[in-house]
Amino acid sequence: MVSILILNGPNLNLLGQRQPEIYGTTTLSDIEAACRKKASELGLGIDFRQDNSEGALIDIIHDARGRHDGLILNAGAYTHSSIALMDAISSVELPTIELHLSNVHAREEFRHVSYIARVALGVICGFGPAGYDLAIEAMARHLEAAG
Ligand code: DQA
Repeated sequence: MVSILILNGPNLNLLGQRQPEIYGTTTLSDIEAACRKKASELGLGIDFRQDNSEGALIDIIHDARGRHDGLILNAGAYTHSSIALMDAISSVELPTIELHLSNVHAREEFRHVSYIARVALGVICGFGPAGYDLAIEAMARHLEAAG
């Protein structure tokens, strides 16, 4: 079975309580449930993870090699700062979609920079929790086309 890792970075555990005017009121467990539903409709396996620390995220990406076929990554603020996460993605050679709930390009300038985008297939941002569904769909299509 084709399998996708959906990985969430720092502060995303606080979704639902955290700056609801930006990130909405949906919790990370609501998003996980929606992802599981979408994946099962598409016949995909998923692993859904969150961690606040950069090193743990890197370890999770390393472990994904050989276990998963694609990575959907909301790296939170590490998107804008972490060369180490970018290098981890390059090292495991997993097709990766960068994801954000908010439209980072409509926000502060420091959020316009992404190290992840340099090694990603593409970027989905600005669609709130629906972005996770869109990313799963985009990854399914990519993996199907890639055979
Ligand atoms: C975010 C956008 C990042 O800039 C921010 O640091 C986050 C959340 C998003 O999903 O919109 O933590 O990744």
